[in-house]
Parts: sequence; structure tokens; C-alpha cells
Amino acid sequence: MGVRILFLSSEVAPYSKTGGLGDVSGALPAVLAKRGHEVVVVTPRYATVPTEGLSLRGTLWLHFPFGAQWAEVWEVRAGNLRTLFIRQPAYFDRGGFYAEGGVEYTDNHRRFAFFSMAALSAAQMLGLCPQVIHLNEWQTCLAALALKRGYESTPLGQAKTLLSIHNLAYQGIFPSWAVEELGLPWELFSPDGFEFWGQLSFLKTGLVFADALSTVSRRYAQEIQTPEYGFGLEGILQKRAGVLRGILNGIDSKLWNPATDVFLPARYSREDMSGKEVCSEALLERFGLSSAPKRPPIFGMVSRMVEQKGIELILGAIPGLVEAGARVIIIGTGEGRFEGALREMAQRFPQQVGVFIGFDETLSHCVEAGSDFFMMPSKFEPCGLNQLYSLRYGAIPVVRAVGGLEDSIIDAGVEGGEQTSTGIKFGEFSLEAFEGALRRALGLFKKPKLLLGMRKRAMGKDFSWEHAAKEYEALYESLLGAGEDATSAGR
Ligand code: ADP
Ligand code: GLC
Repeated sequence: MGVRILFLSSEVAPYSKTGGLGDVSGALPAVLAKRGHEVVVVTPRYATVPTEGLSLRGTLWLHFPFGAQWAEVWEVRAGNLRTLFIRQPAYFDRGGFYAEGGVEYTDNHRRFAFFSMAALSAAQMLGLCPQVIHLNEWQTCLAALALKRGYESTPLGQAKTLLSIHNLAYQGIFPSWAVEELGLPWELFSPDGFEFWGQLSFLKTGLVFADALSTVSRRYAQEIQTPEYGFGLEGILQKRAGVLRGILNGIDSKLWNPATDVFLPARYSREDMSGKEVCSEALLERFGLSSAPKRPPIFGMVSRMVEQKGIELILGAIPGLVEAGARVIIIGTGEGRFEGALREMAQRFPQQVGVFIGFDETLSHCVEAGSDFFMMPSKFEPCGLNQLYSLRYGAIPVVRAVGGLEDSIIDAGVEGGEQTSTGIKFGEFSLEAFEGALRRALGLFKKPKLLLGMRKRAMGKDFSWEHAAKEYEALYESLLGAGEDATSAGR
């Protein structure tokens, strides 16, 4: 059965991306459309969105207590996938998506209330009649409330809503005066509504008002119901556990394929790995790192530079890795304190540590291909896509056993692990535990046969979107009452 889906996201690759949300929103709707569903994606038109191929579908006006504002609706079609862009230059034509120079925009509540409402108005203007409205992250959450309060007697209001949580650390919390500014109902400013410790929470609005919830791995779906990972929302998540499901993200296996990847200096596959060595040498050269006297083990990382990603453990572990003769190559952007500390590491060890601060798609592929090991010592990780790319590129993931990292990587330590392992995992979030895992990686590098075996197993894993798409399909259908009951599905 084909489902009519309206998919809202504040970033959609290749038009906009700060992290995995962009990848997911660029890939999942396309796969669903290919599988016969009618999918319409709605996203802001940022300065990064090219004008070619877009056509104007109409202009609408939105009225908020803070003022009236127009939005143009632009569209691009690819097969039966339609993408709508909401254009309002004052909000979206800026230097960043959510922040600039490390400082969040002060009107993000207005920008994303505007986006959410404009997305619904655009759907109405174009006569769309979605059965499922799939929301992503806090930026889209006010739509869940609007559909229940305001749209309930319209065709759009009959759609079921699914909210996908990609990262509970980002909640869209604003001072209480934002309730007034956005014209939200004050009676919902309570613990059972959108109030969160005296403030307005966009994410909580979605958690309360969406018909179903999902997150991006099974493990994370469990974790967020505990105080350790719940960011204060564990109570409401426990309450809604019956409609919460974990679906592991997939990867775009065309874009991330070492056998065809145009970003790489050489291509390779499980059958012929010789190109990987070319990629490793090129990567060392790109960063001016020495490979004398013999080719050293290369530890890579591509990441947002934020607390979540365990950068403090990376910083702590670098001197030991250098001491052991390894090379470390890191690319990323984020908090200034982490960027600065990593730059210092590169200055301290110019022959052994390479750091690039910035966002560079090509380089991110080259790091996956050139690395022997890929580090993700995350404090928490809802899913993580880089470890999945690493598997595909034969860069053995060294990961902390949390969230999607726990669900996607098999450690040699488990029963039968010698034949099934695809990576190295550690448990406790401590330098000691991480260094233990790195020592295992260094040991593995000295056993080329074992390493090659693990690489080939990793590269043979199939994490393509088809699997996840089927799970979303089942979830949509259960929401529409066609399949099993949404409240018991997947639990
Ligand atoms: P998160 O969404 O928490 O940032 P994921 O592992 O799910 O983590 O996804 C991160 C995505 O962003 C990957 O596609 C990764 O390659 C990309 N990425 C992160 N930082 C950079 C960077 N500096 N340059 C290029 N790509 C990056
Ligand atoms: C978030 C998470 C990451 C996940 C991505 C896409 O940014 O931090 O783990 O893979 O969203 O769902």
C-alpha cells in the first residue's frame, strides 16, 4: 500500500546539512518514494539551496503576534519525490542554519515556528492530503500541536503524526515570553503540556502531541527513558513508551561506496583492497604526516566538535597514540574550546597529528577511506552514521557501546566474536577504557591477517536504507490502522 507522507525537516542533504539529520532527510524520503509511497519533503530554503531546477508554487502569509510574514513555496521534483522549500530570506538566508560564529540565532523560536506553520499552510495551499505527517526534531514540533489545535477539522488534521527524535540534547527551549510571542495557548504552559521547568520546550510539545514517536536506534529508545540519557524528558518518554519505537538509520549506499566514490584518490572493494592503501598514503600526504619508517596505523575521526562526541577522550588519548607510533587525523567543526585544543595538538605533533577545522564533504570521504581505525568515543549516540560509513570503507570503528554504536558494531569479545566481529567497543566513558580499546586496535594492526578478515566482514555488512524504510513503512501502516496496533508495534 502506498502511503501519502509529508516529511518535515530543518535540514536535507544535499541542500543543507550540519550532521546526520541532513543525511537521513536526504536519503529516507527518496527510498520511500522509490518503494511506491507519495512523499513530499518540506524544508527551509537557506542560502545554500541552489536556484536551478526550482519552481515557484505560490506565496502565502502567516500571522503571528510578532507580526505577519510572507513565505514563498518553491518546489523541485525527482520521480515521485517532491521537495518543497519555504523561502523567507529574513529567516533563512543567513550565514548559518541555526547559529553563526558559535552563537545561536536569538530568533530561532520564531524561525522554526514560522517554518512549521508555513509547511502546513503550503501543504494546504497545494491541496496535499497526507495520511502521515513525519516530523523530525524540535524544529518541526509545533506542527504536531497545530494539527491538533487549529487544523483538527481540516483534511490535513486527519493525518497521523510521527515525531522522530534524532538527538535529545537539542530540545528547542525558550523563555516563557515566547509563548506569548508565538501565540501559543497559555493553558498548555503546564507540566502536562509544553512547559519545561518554567520555559517553553518545542521538543516536549512534539513528545506530547505527536501520535507516535520514534528514535534512531533500539538502544537509544531504551536509554532515553532513563535519567542518564533522558535530558530531563525521561518521564514523558516513559509515559509514551507504548508508542515509542527505535529504528536504526541506514546509509546511502550509492553515495558511500568505496568502489565508486568519486571523492577518493583511488577506489577499492572487498575483493580488491589495493586502492585503500593509496587512499591512506594520500591522506597522510594531504596532512603532511610522515609515514616513515614504515606505514603507521591511521586513526581517523569526522565529527561535530561537541561534548556528545567525547572530544575530551580524544584529546586525552592523542599523546599515547603518538607515542605508540600512530597517526591521528581529525576533521570537524563546533565548539571553539575543542577546535582550539585540537589545533594545539596538531601543532604539538606536526608529523603525527593532522587536524582540519571546517566542513568538507570530500575530505570526510577521504578520511573514511584512508583510515585504518575510526574513533567514536561518544558520551551518547542516538544512531551515528559515521561508524556505518566506516564499516563500508573498512575503517575499523573503535566506539563506545552506547545507542546506535552498540546496536551496529560487533566486538570480538562477544561469543563467536572471532568470526563475526566488525569493530572494537568499550563501555565506561573514561580515558582508561578508551585507551584500552585503542590498545586493542594497535594490537590488531600488528596482525594483518586478522585485521583484513575483520575489514572484509565490516565491508560486507548491509546497512542500506531498505531495511529501515521497511520498518518505517510498518510503523506508518500501524498508525493508519492497517497493520498491528501502533501502541504495541515493535516493543
Ligand atoms: P551527528 O548527526 O550527531 O553529527 P552522525 O554520525 O549521525 O552524527 O552524522 C554526522 C554526519 O555529518 C556524517 O555524514 C559526517 O560525515 C558529517 N560530518 C560531520 N562533521 C563533518 C565535517 N566537518 N565535514 C564533513 N562532514 C562532516
Ligand atoms: C543526530 C545524532 C546521530 C544520528 C543523527 C541522525 O544528530 O547525534 O547519532 O545518527 O542524528 O539520526
